[in-house]
Amino acid sequence: MSKTIESLLVEKRVFKPSREFSKAARIGSMAEYRKIYEASIRNPEKFWAAEASELVWQKRWSKVLDWKAPFAKWFVGGKINASENCLDRHLSGPRRNKAALIWEGEPGERRTLTFHQLHREVCVFANILKRNGAKKGDRVLIYLPMIPEAVVAMLACARIGAVHTVVFAGFSSDSIRDRIQDSGATLVVTADGGYRRGQVVTLKQNVDQALEGARGVKKVIVFRRTNQDIHIKPGRDVWWHREAEYVTADCPAEPLDSEHPLFILYTSGSTGKPKGILHTTGGYLTSCYATSKYIFDLREEDVFWCTADVGWVTGHSYVTYGPLAAGATCMMYEGAPNWPQPDRFWKIIADYGVTILYTAPTAIRAFIKWGKEWPAKHDLSSLRLLGSVGEPINPEAWIWYHETIGGGRCPIVDTWWQTETGVIMISPFPGATPLKPGSATLPFFGVDAAIVDDHGREVGADQGGKLIIRKPWPGMLRTIYGDKARYRKQYWGEFKGVYVAGDGARRDKDGYFWVVGRIDDVLNVAGHRLGTAEVESALVSHETVAEAAVVGRPDELKGQAVVAFVTLREGAKASKELADKLRKHVGTVIGPIAKPDDIRFAEALPKTRSGKIMRRLLKQIVEGANITGDTTTLEDFRVLAELRSRDD
Ligand code: WTA
Repeated sequence: MSKTIESLLVEKRVFKPSREFSKAARIGSMAEYRKIYEASIRNPEKFWAAEASELVWQKRWSKVLDWKAPFAKWFVGGKINASENCLDRHLSGPRRNKAALIWEGEPGERRTLTFHQLHREVCVFANILKRNGAKKGDRVLIYLPMIPEAVVAMLACARIGAVHTVVFAGFSSDSIRDRIQDSGATLVVTADGGYRRGQVVTLKQNVDQALEGARGVKKVIVFRRTNQDIHIKPGRDVWWHREAEYVTADCPAEPLDSEHPLFILYTSGSTGKPKGILHTTGGYLTSCYATSKYIFDLREEDVFWCTADVGWVTGHSYVTYGPLAAGATCMMYEGAPNWPQPDRFWKIIADYGVTILYTAPTAIRAFIKWGKEWPAKHDLSSLRLLGSVGEPINPEAWIWYHETIGGGRCPIVDTWWQTETGVIMISPFPGATPLKPGSATLPFFGVDAAIVDDHGREVGADQGGKLIIRKPWPGMLRTIYGDKARYRKQYWGEFKGVYVAGDGARRDKDGYFWVVGRIDDVLNVAGHRLGTAEVESALVSHETVAEAAVVGRPDELKGQAVVAFVTLREGAKASKELADKLRKHVGTVIGPIAKPDDIRFAEALPKTRSGKIMRRLLKQIVEGANITGDTTTLEDFRVLAELRSRDD
């Protein structure tokens, strides 16, 4: 951590877009940015209505915003279909036969789907969904690898008004079960398997296990990807390709209320239970479209590659809805960046002429570790713009990305946002904003972001505080599925009418935002949000564990590594074998990304008198810092002494 802070101080260079880039960009100067930004803050409804007007509405709205804090309705009275906007509206012009998706499988297969073809596949699958009982409003759980069918399934749900909930294919069967139960999904879409680092991931088998303990799922539609043997349960499981024989490709897009739910996406919070973040149709799509257009400055000839999995919000907004609504060509790759060699990404960029690359700092740090020789083997001159998302990007990684991948000529858009915000909120405009490595720079149009202290007072330049948003925006979450009270408390409970992001940040004298990380009990491991409480409850569910406390430790590659302090039940013995078992157990309960990197057995955990585990102290221990701050409420000082001595 201290290393990063030091380097922030060292990296003082500011990178301006080239004149050439600015000239061609939609927003070509800071003066233009400021003019539109100020107008958009004075009258956000006007700005957003103009953006929404660029989409196809089956019925125009009667009111732009209905805001009864913290509940927002955007484009009230309007009817719209997200799938129609991503597909049908491009079919009447020259985009009809343009590539919508260019896909490469990990084993090397290639597929290109034009807008016409993608539209056709979506209509077929929408009819398959209907044939299998899916209706408007039903929840459909999607558990697929990064194959075009993942996008097809999402858009097919959107087409008929079914609500998709995509579960990352790296999650375990327990995670699938929890999400089925919470969302009340009645249909699951999966594949026999997927490829990852040359191995087959047993997706259907995970679904089978999840369904053993879950009620309500009536049908499972299985796409054949890997061709390995799977169990088909008669009456419940059907093959995608067989079903396709029974339906036509005729499926008009359902007119849906602007506020009709589009998807639920689960994300970690500070409690043990992931939250079902609910997004709706008209506002979300407008925001996806506008941010894609301005921030990635998309053009007809671009090949846009967002490397995120569709299981995360980035894959929702910037693999599927944003770029497709903007009529862009999207690259999609199924597998690992280092398979079969660490140059896979660079080979893909050269092979397909990718022009925009949007990836995560954790990936960039891995590329740095693998060495410059890998990108050097390929022609990356097609790239014109780079992007970063998921966690703060350290200036070293930024500079490496800029020089080694971008050849010094590509602006980098460091985009700050969250599952809850739905879309990018703070980001450079690539043709306008002078870039400072490590800063997400300035808010997007209509986004009223600020930094405040614990009393909600805006702080001065370079003072740390909480990142808040003071006005509703169309892409915002509408609620936590099935839990309005938690929604209100979690995001809007601290200051009246103000959204609290849960991130700590500061603004410098130029108004640039520097996000430093989470202030709640949420870790950011390799760009993925993990609640400490989630990992703790997974650990405690093991028969040997009495109590667990999980904290993050700064990690060069992953941003944060997961460290677990564990006390054992009577009779259980601490050992390396047990630590391995517990790691595996967490992998089974949540998924491999949640496995603790380090398990430390302890006799007891430091607690306050009211019994709260003092994670702050544990954090200082794993960071190797001296214990500072208030320890007077610590129940038993000996505990602390003991934990420290173990660490030495
Ligand atoms: C962090 C991912 C700094 C932040 C889109 C946020 C970032 C959390 C950035 C959301 C960035 C994301 N700079 N921090 N450019 N982007 N974060 O919901 O802590 O998976 O609250 O959404 O990631 O993670 P989520």
